[in-house]
Amino acid sequence: MSPELPLQGKKILLGVCGGIAAYKSAELTRRLIDKGADVRIVMTASAKEFITPLTMQAVSGHAVYDSLLDPQAELGMGHIELAKWADLILIAPATANAIARLRAGMADELLTTLCLASASPIAIAPAMNQQMYLAPVTQENINALKERGIFVWGPAQGMQACGDVGPGRLLEVPDLVQLSCDFFAPVEQSLMGVNVVITAGPTQEAIDPVRYISNHSSGKMGFSLAEAALVMGANVTVIAGPVHLTLPAEIKRIDIKSAVEMHQASLAAVAESDVFIACAAVADFRTAQVHNEKMKKQENSDSMTLTLVKNPDIIADVASSINRPFCVGFAAETNNLEAYALDKLTRKNLDLIAANDVSVNDQGFNSDNNALTVFSKNQRFDIALNTKKEVSMQLLKLIAQEFKEYSKDHSNETNRT
Ligand code: C5P
Repeated sequence: MSPELPLQGKKILLGVCGGIAAYKSAELTRRLIDKGADVRIVMTASAKEFITPLTMQAVSGHAVYDSLLDPQAELGMGHIELAKWADLILIAPATANAIARLRAGMADELLTTLCLASASPIAIAPAMNQQMYLAPVTQENINALKERGIFVWGPAQGMQACGDVGPGRLLEVPDLVQLSCDFFAPVEQSLMGVNVVITAGPTQEAIDPVRYISNHSSGKMGFSLAEAALVMGANVTVIAGPVHLTLPAEIKRIDIKSAVEMHQASLAAVAESDVFIACAAVADFRTAQVHNEKMKKQENSDSMTLTLVKNPDIIADVASSINRPFCVGFAAETNNLEAYALDKLTRKNLDLIAANDVSVNDQGFNSDNNALTVFSKNQRFDIALNTKKEVSMQLLKLIAQEFKEYSKDHSNETNRT
């Protein structure tokens, strides 16, 4: 029996808009079908000025959909049915106009109406003149679509049909096909072979042999991230503070107590890590001096003073090391969530920061639930309140996606994987 094709049985609705790159949509259709996809075509009115519906019908093997108000087409697969049919709506090329209309929620022609009427994932592959792409309004529109969960594939840089050079070229067909295959790849493969190191739990800062300073972190979030990363195919190492939790045997566990020990173990793990997730609630300070013997109450004094010194910032040091991994931090905040999280992202040189509001009951610290707002340098993603297990899966999927982009951008640097 031949192995299953990566897009076997996947239903892709390909939206074609009116740009010079529309001629590539025919080739894209063919290559998606080669990979096993069932492709139906929707064309905007201006797309038909660049490539004929007849061509698209011939390559897809199905009649092209191009009108919202076509009684004949509605007799077949009506537009709502078509919107429900798709496993993925891919708009390639997506023009500046289509992107703006999608953002505005327009429903006066077939393609944007289908997007509005569909609960299926949507991916757009922008293609336009570089000036149009870089225009603040287009950037705003694209960012708004990303925040809504729409995938943006490309654009590529280079020479444009109009003679300009810059970002705005449609991604090449093989890249679009690869992204489609990656999109449908089972979650189990999204971190296949990636080395993920996670710090988890609290740290304990000794005062003397029997006393310490610590915090209420349970380690649940870090441990559940470790399990999610394992499910997604990663090689996982957990550097754990003192917690009462167990991990599957496939996960390498390094137990430490203090922040200084966690710092040492983390820096030692950097060379072997592609993704570093700092989930631990590291004590900001440790005692300047750890007493060798149990400290005694002073009979003549009702108070005592401990001198504390600052602990090293583990994730900041990892993020500034040579051949740094992709770095993800956490920010537990009670107020000004976004501002504090973005400040940490920049100050610690992170790639992503997952912020949670610890002032809300039943989420975050010690709870089984969590909700996160994740920031990259220029994007924001919301992960709604759910079990830490589910939130971990969603966060790891996002990390896998962003790590892939990061790896592409840094592919010239030393390759550790
Ligand atoms: O600065 P703050 O403690 O709020 O930053 C939180 C993030 O930084 C978390 O990802 C935490 O694991 C990490 N961190 C660290 N080392 C420290 C303090 C925090 O890695 N000493």
